[in-house]
Amino acid sequence: MSTFFLDGDEIPFEPGQTIMEAAHAAGRYLPHLCWHPDFEPHGSCKLCTVKADERLVSACTTAAQAGMSVENRTPELDDKRRTLLQMLFVEGNHFCPSCEKSGHCLLQATAYEMGMTTPHFDMFYPDRPVDASHPDMLLDFNRCILCELCVRASRDADGKNVFALSGRGIASHLIVNAESGRLADTGFSKDDRAASICPVGVILRKRVGFAVPIGSRKYDLTPVGEGGA
Ligand code: SF4
Ligand code: FES
Repeated sequence: MSTFFLDGDEIPFEPGQTIMEAAHAAGRYLPHLCWHPDFEPHGSCKLCTVKADERLVSACTTAAQAGMSVENRTPELDDKRRTLLQMLFVEGNHFCPSCEKSGHCLLQATAYEMGMTTPHFDMFYPDRPVDASHPDMLLDFNRCILCELCVRASRDADGKNVFALSGRGIASHLIVNAESGRLADTGFSKDDRAASICPVGVILRKRVGFAVPIGSRKYDLTPVGEGGA
């Protein structure tokens, strides 16, 4: 089996595995938001940017190569990640203390891991109305980080294509594929894979909010950098 070096440690990989896949299989944490082991990589959030043989690359889309030297948790890279996170926080409305996904949210957990303590930039405070039309699920678009995990899950796992991204650049936003634009007018079900894939607090189940007490939530128990991804 071939190996590469991750922050100086030898990591085995199979041909065709990405740096992210091999690192994940070896139990190593590479910061990420849009990557999920069950879906095709998307390469959009750039949180997984590493230095591979002195080049900046996305670990989730770059194939591992024998002998490659990959820098991951360096102060320089974590500093860039902190800036990306700060931009995501100000671009949406992330009021963590009042969000029922708090403690289960990958954005929040990653911000803690990267030592983010302030938003740094001016908040946008966008106005994005929630969609409460579905009997079982609520969509709070305010927290969407455009990772497209729901798009991939609905398309590739559920075969339904309920979600899509619309617009470009700063105007890019999540939409529901129905003429009315309402979730109730799609075939979406609370049992869909897409119903439980959102890493932040956009796609929420109704009537089960705050079921897990503070202190027992996913990232309370295992911080993301310690294998809680
Ligand atoms: S709703 Fe959630 S899963 Fe879908 S794109 Fe936004 S953040 Fe990602
Ligand atoms: S996790 Fe690699 S770009 Fe998002």
